[in-house]
Amino acid sequence: MSDLPKFSSRIFLAPMAGVSDPALRLLCKEMGAGLVVSELTSIHAIIAKERQLQVENKKISEFIEFSEKERPLSVQLFGSDLEALGRAAKIVEPFFDVIDYNMGCPAPHITQQMAGGALLQNIELTQKIFKTLVSSVKKPVTLKMRAGVNGQFLFKDIAKVAQKEGIKMITLHARTVRQGYSGKSDWTLIKDLKEMVDIPIVGNGDVTSPELAKAMIDETGCDYVMVGRGAMGNPFLFRQINDYLRFGSYQEYSAKHRIEMFLKYADFAINYNIKFSNIRQQAMRFTKGIMHATKLRPQIMLAKTVDDLKSIIIEASY
Ligand SMILES: Cc1cc2nc3c(=O)[nH]c(=O)nc-3n(C[C@H](O)[C@H](O)[C@H](O)COP(=O)(O)O)c2cc1C
Repeated sequence: MSDLPKFSSRIFLAPMAGVSDPALRLLCKEMGAGLVVSELTSIHAIIAKERQLQVENKKISEFIEFSEKERPLSVQLFGSDLEALGRAAKIVEPFFDVIDYNMGCPAPHITQQMAGGALLQNIELTQKIFKTLVSSVKKPVTLKMRAGVNGQFLFKDIAKVAQKEGIKMITLHARTVRQGYSGKSDWTLIKDLKEMVDIPIVGNGDVTSPELAKAMIDETGCDYVMVGRGAMGNPFLFRQINDYLRFGSYQEYSAKHRIEMFLKYADFAINYNIKFSNIRQQAMRFTKGIMHATKLRPQIMLAKTVDDLKSIIIEASY
């Protein structure tokens, strides 16, 4: 299996279903994200889509969309049927630089299929999953997981198995599945994991500022930091963190910058097959707290096209 690609910075964008679409990823990449990851994708959907695309003489990259400018780019898979997993990994391998496996999603429609976070209670199956992935592809395979399902923290045992089976990097969102997004990410678990394995560790959970990114690195010794919600509508965070880590200071970005960034997002977004309702949510995030929100929000909700959104936001900024 090949090694991990070289990352241009220590700060990664988290996979976020419905949020980290190709347009947002591109902006985060331009602002200094060292790695961006696709939204989680079902192995069964990949296989079904491939069959359909073959008939239309198209490639799977028209289903999982991306831009060459995002590289290095990671694709995140979920699903625990071993045969389907091997097949899906082989289908996506030619298009991506890293194959990431999801072992953290708390959504019931995923955990009920013994996938996502539910796997954190099944070490035997996780071992088979790692073996299948690593033997199916030559690209590096990575793992993103939570600490455990509820009170029981099996992540350490799973990490040991993962390392032994050839997983090249582990991201830990240090909450349990039961916690969802409540409480706090327990960074001491990230420190424990870093001390236990030799492969690179990506710390994740509750990093929303340059100061918190530095604190996570200092407190846990993690190799990389993954940022999710803090980057929503705020790709500037990557530049700010990189500057803070390098120079100890960073630039603040004004409402004008955020509006300009949304307009750029909108221009990128029209090149991809992104649901309009998701683009509208992005408009909400980019303008959150910076304009006459009570007036703007209902107008955004009424927009029917990307051009509507751009006009509403340009008009509100005068
Ligand atoms: C809207 C949303 C969608 C998410 N989708 C995914 C996903 O597709 N795959 C995944 O591994 N994690 C997903 N996550 C979890 C994030 O990747 C990340 O682990 C979590 O938000 C904690 O990081 P943060 O505190 O920086 O947001 C999602 C989180 C949010 C808020």
